[in-house]
Amino acid sequence: MNTLSAPASLCYLNGEFLLLANARISPLDRGFLFGDGAYEVIPCYARKPLRLAEHLLRLVNTLEGIRLPNPHHAGEWAEIIAKVLDGNPWDNQSIYLQVTRGAPPARKHTFPENTPPTVFLMSEQLTTPSIEQFNAGASAISASDDRWLHCDFKTVSLIANCLLKQRAQDANCIEIILFRDGFLTEASSSNVFAVRNDVLLAPPRNHLILPGITYDLVLELAARHNIPHEVRAITEYEARTADELWVTSSTKEILPITTLDGQPVGNGRVGAMAHKMYALYQDFKHTLILHG
Ligand code: PDD
Repeated sequence: MNTLSAPASLCYLNGEFLLLANARISPLDRGFLFGDGAYEVIPCYARKPLRLAEHLLRLVNTLEGIRLPNPHHAGEWAEIIAKVLDGNPWDNQSIYLQVTRGAPPARKHTFPENTPPTVFLMSEQLTTPSIEQFNAGASAISASDDRWLHCDFKTVSLIANCLLKQRAQDANCIEIILFRDGFLTEASSSNVFAVRNDVLLAPPRNHLILPGITYDLVLELAARHNIPHEVRAITEYEARTADELWVTSSTKEILPITTLDGQPVGNGRVGAMAHKMYALYQDFKHTLILHG
């Protein structure tokens, strides 16, 4: 693949729909200079966004958290997303959406005045893990969570996450599972669930983790299908001795971690609860595909 040229896919930039290869922003853009912006990744199946309202609500929360006005109301976002989905060749797409604090005439840390935000939206083909990959499970390493204390904001300042994810890749692992002060938080680009004694455990939804849309959906499915679950602080010991560990995200869906730091998780195989939740999640997706 030629990594220098962008694919000929349709994107949106500041009011225009154009080919990604032709999209240009200023080097003074605060997203580029300061990582000053918010983003979302929205999975779309059969060109239908999964949990769009929830993604847009999280965007609003991040924008409020970083004091950046939302440039569009929900209806406008939905229209832009629909046009980008229509203009691209894949049935299943991952919509990437980003708002930055724009490109003022000079580099200054404080927020600029009279500077419109930069609004960018692109699409990639969405390839979620196959059933074979799910059944094989995946390996992870662990690290101490040394990110900032606003992991609940989905900002484009992602160097801490990138450094962590690279460590996982260097170790031939899919993810790096993070612990802060002796408790499980999340992973570099996913949330983490544990299963102990047939109870699904999720870390609390606070400033230390991203409130994942998949995380919420998994908990909703657990409640709807009477799967015992608890949202509470999970100690590092409990995570390391769990029967099952999963990572979840919009692009990974539900992926069982069967090896952590070279040690088997539980019996080292994909657990019964993971199989059950995977089936419920796939059913939920198919309902969206069939009925919108
Ligand atoms: N990442 N935690 C972090 C740090 C994440 O970056 C993500 C998602 C999640 C899962 O959130 P959701 O279920 O809403 O996808 C948790 C996206 C996919 C990314 O940055 O590409």
